[in-house]
This record gives sequence, structure tokens and C-alpha cells, in this order.
Amino acid sequence: MKVEHLNLMEVNKPYFDELAQAAVRVITSGRYIGGCEVCGLEQKIAALCGVAHAVGVASGLDALRLVMMAYVEMGLMHKGDEVLVPANTYVASFLAISQAGLMPVPVDPDPVTMNITGKAVSRAMSSRVKAVMPVHLYGRVAWDGEMVRIARNEGLLMIEDCAQALGARSTVEGLYGSFNAGGLGNAAGISFYPTKNLGALGDGGMVVTNDKQLADMVRSLANYGSSRRYHNEYMGINSRLDPIQAAMLDVKFKYLDEVNAKRMDIARMYDSVIDNPYVIKPVMPKPGSMECVWHQYVVRVPKLRNEILSFLKTHGVDTDIHYPCPPHMQPCYEGLKHEALPVAELLAEEVLSLPIGQYMSLDLANEIADIINRFGQ
Ligand SMILES: Cc1ncc(COP(=O)(O)O)c(C=O)c1O
Repeated sequence: MKVEHLNLMEVNKPYFDELAQAAVRVITSGRYIGGCEVCGLEQKIAALCGVAHAVGVASGLDALRLVMMAYVEMGLMHKGDEVLVPANTYVASFLAISQAGLMPVPVDPDPVTMNITGKAVSRAMSSRVKAVMPVHLYGRVAWDGEMVRIARNEGLLMIEDCAQALGARSTVEGLYGSFNAGGLGNAAGISFYPTKNLGALGDGGMVVTNDKQLADMVRSLANYGSSRRYHNEYMGINSRLDPIQAAMLDVKFKYLDEVNAKRMDIARMYDSVIDNPYVIKPVMPKPGSMECVWHQYVVRVPKLRNEILSFLKTHGVDTDIHYPCPPHMQPCYEGLKHEALPVAELLAEEVLSLPIGQYMSLDLANEIADIINRFGQ
């Protein structure tokens, strides 16, 4: 048996013909920047998230960075203001904050959901904090009622890092109804990096928001700070979602629900079969809910992680670690002030991501789970 952690050829194989046709459409259109490929996708992603506006940009990092830059230009945040962010996220969440001149303040996650909670946000509050960035890590929606209450009561901006959770949906207790990931905060950043549940064939990202002023500012900042040709109001950047990537994403968008449902089935299979005292499984969402779209299926191995990783490798199964070193321990964040972050630091030593691709059969997931169960016997 040989199972890669994720095989991108297999991810895209079912759509090869459609992708090729879409590529030809863009190539023969002669329009390689902007245009209807991009704005068509913007409308679909906005509708999926349940918001009014979407702006295609070059990556997930740019999406989050541009939101931060826009709030600074709009005067809603000022250089040096603090933004609460989970300590166990990918470094891009931190970089987006820092690169806009703001200060990331890492918050320790809950060890069970591996996401931050309203309680932890409340403990980390100070007058310098102006925003919170819940990260829907591994595809699991990260907000809770308390977080939303604090954000609203304290006037914090809530900027969702939705890089890993497009299509996830959950209710917020105390608020009426349920919300799609990307649709509850003041704004959200989405990534279309190829490994994402909706992945391009290259880089791509999008900002989604209900705030027209913010959307206009992001659009301008992403276009050299200009909304009128050769008139530059702000010191912007160049960050575009290419039409060729928008066309690839438009093909794959139709299948996103199906992809997320298949990943849920694989997660359920792992959950029902894995039974090894060395392995702590992730919590399953409530039956019938899509509060996790399983961008990763991440187990914790408090003892012998390297050994189980090697055991799986010997049996032909590749795993990955998301993430082996939290951002606050990276050299680029040396000197960053923060509280003790024991959970994030422990998780970095314990987490292990099993293969989870929509192309995998349930039999294969069952087989991988069986191999895990044989470890340590
Ligand atoms: C949680 C999180 N935030 C932000 C990003 C940045 O996205 P991109 O790689 O598209 O810049 C990623 C992607 O890897 C991510 O996983």
C-alpha cells in the first residue's frame, strides 16, 4: 500500500476535461486580468458565505492582510493596535496582522476543539485589543456565542481566517440561526491554495464581507491603492485573483458540497474504527451538522508521535504535522510578547494529520485505521 497524505493529481482528476475546457476559454478570451471570470466567482463565493461582497485577491495571506490594511486606512484600527489570534494557527494568520503594522496577540486554544474560545478571548482582553481573528482550524468553525458577545460588547472587529473552512456552517448559541464560515464576522479571508477543500491550480484568495466600504477599500488597496486609473489614493499593493484560476475554481465550486461530504464520511470512518490508547481522535460534530469540513483530520499522540509516524510510513501511509512549531516560536517572531501558551506548545508536539482526500475510498480509510490500531500491540 502507498498512500500520500494528499495527492493533488487525484484531487483534480475527476475534473480534468472541464478544467481543460475552462482553461481554453480563458486563453482564447484574450482577457488575462480581471473580467467576468473573476467577478462571476466573487458572486458565487459571496453567496456561499451569505454575504454581500467578495473581492478576489492573490492568496489567503493577501486576503487577511488586505482586510487589516483596509481597517487601518479606514481609521478603524491604528498602527500598534492588538489583534487576538490563536497561538496554534499557520504563520500566515500572524503575518497578515504584522504586515499591516498591527500586533498579533496569541491566545491559547482549547485542547479539545483546537480552536480558541470566547472564554480565552475574554481573558486576553485589554484596551489595546481592537480585533479578534478566529481561525477555523482544520475546517472546524471556531466561533462561539461568548466570543461573538464579547466582540459586539467591546466593539472588536471580528476577522475570520476562513482559509481552511469554506463551506462549513454552524449555529451560534444566543443568536438566531446558523452562519456559514466567512459570514459571521465583519470580514473573512479565504485561501484557494491547491490543497484547500476548494483549491485552485496555483495561488488564489478572496475577501468576503457585508461591509461595502471595506470591500471597496480592499479592492482599491489590492489595485495599487487605486480605484480610478492613474489616481492612487493609498499606498496599495498588487494582489489579483487571475482569471485562469477563477475559471479553475468555478469548475470545482460546483462540487464543493460533495467534496466536503466525502471528507466528512472519511472522518466518520476514522472515528468509528480508530481505537488505540496512544491516539486521541478529534471530536466529531453534531450529527447532520457541517460545523467541520475536515480540511485536515488531526489526531493527538501524546506519547510516541514519531514512532507512530514511522510505523505508518513503514506501512505505506504518509502523514503530516500541522504545525510543528507555533508562530510565536518562529525566529521571525522572536521577542513577541505573549502570555504562557502551554496548550499550543503541547499540540505542536502531539498533532498528526492523517491522509484525508475526497478521492479516498472508505475501505482505504478503514485500512489506514486498522494499521493505526495495530501500533503498539
Ligand atoms: C489558517 C491559514 N491561514 C492563512 C493561510 C494563507 O493562505 P495562502 O496559502 O493562500 O496564502 C493558510 C494557508 O495555508 C492557512 O492554512
